Amino acid sequence: MITVQQNLRRGGELPDSDSARLDLEVLLAHVLERPRTWLYTWPEYELSQSEQVQFDELLRRRAAGEPVAHLTGEREFWSLSLQVDASTLIPRPDTELLVETALALCPVTPQRVLDLGTGTGAIALALASERPAWQVLAAEKSPDALALAERNRVSLGLDNVRVIESDWFAQIPPQSFDLIVSNPPYIDAADPHLGQGDVRFEPRSALVADREGLADIEVIAATAPAFLAPGGCLLVEHGWQQAAAVRAIFADAGLVSIESRRDYGGRERLTLGRSQC
Ligand SMILES: C[S@@+](CC[C@H](N)C(=O)[O-])C[C@H]1O[C@@H](n2cnc3c(N)ncnc32)[C@H](O)[C@@H]1O
Repeated sequence: MITVQQNLRRGGELPDSDSARLDLEVLLAHVLERPRTWLYTWPEYELSQSEQVQFDELLRRRAAGEPVAHLTGEREFWSLSLQVDASTLIPRPDTELLVETALALCPVTPQRVLDLGTGTGAIALALASERPAWQVLAAEKSPDALALAERNRVSLGLDNVRVIESDWFAQIPPQSFDLIVSNPPYIDAADPHLGQGDVRFEPRSALVADREGLADIEVIAATAPAFLAPGGCLLVEHGWQQAAAVRAIFADAGLVSIESRRDYGGRERLTLGRSQC
């Protein structure tokens, strides 16, 4: 029988992971259905045979590169536990900056909000959980991701979110939003990072956009003014080298008060613009 402590010393079996210790803890806690802190309270606990077989298998798959979130089926985002699968992006901590910015931009009073390309529902659900008075429409093109977002919505009990299938704005019924947010695909197809790490297991449709990663942002910005209330805001996440291009796209779309916001590393990762009053 192998103990918790002995299993946590198997980081050498994950040579390609830059978070081997954390991976071991998360996978072991998942198999044992305990919080990670439990592992330190019970280091001498001996795994049953079936627990050990399950953990060995997860470790083998992690060593082959599969994301931890796909192995456990969940990921924390904005303190919400979200189900994840291979249909869409695993929510990133970077995107919490978009949530933070959106919350700061708008009053807590009722707002009509649209999240385009909602994936797991991460942004929409985080906003709705913070602002019960907001009505959030979460749109997604992939039917599998849409079903995932709806499962997350139901398990979090957020009645102020509605999930809808739509190719960007194409199936959104005509209406005005105070805020439109999106973390769209923005990676250039030739980006070498697409061949490395977790992104190898995420769908290209969630990551890659034509025209050096800007094609989807162009579509969103061009159509957004027709769906924004006067003075309403469009806020998108983008790559750290794309801010100037995104500002130009927003200006071409007729948006005003355009500015980019930096992440905590000083990189411009968000751009916002307003519709004219
Ligand atoms: C980068 S992921 C972001 C997912 C989620 N919003 C997040 O931040 O974790 C982009 C999402 O946009 C969706 N998407 C791609 N093209 C789309 C389109 N034409 N219309 C609507 N959604 C689209 C993808 O399926 C994917 O779920």
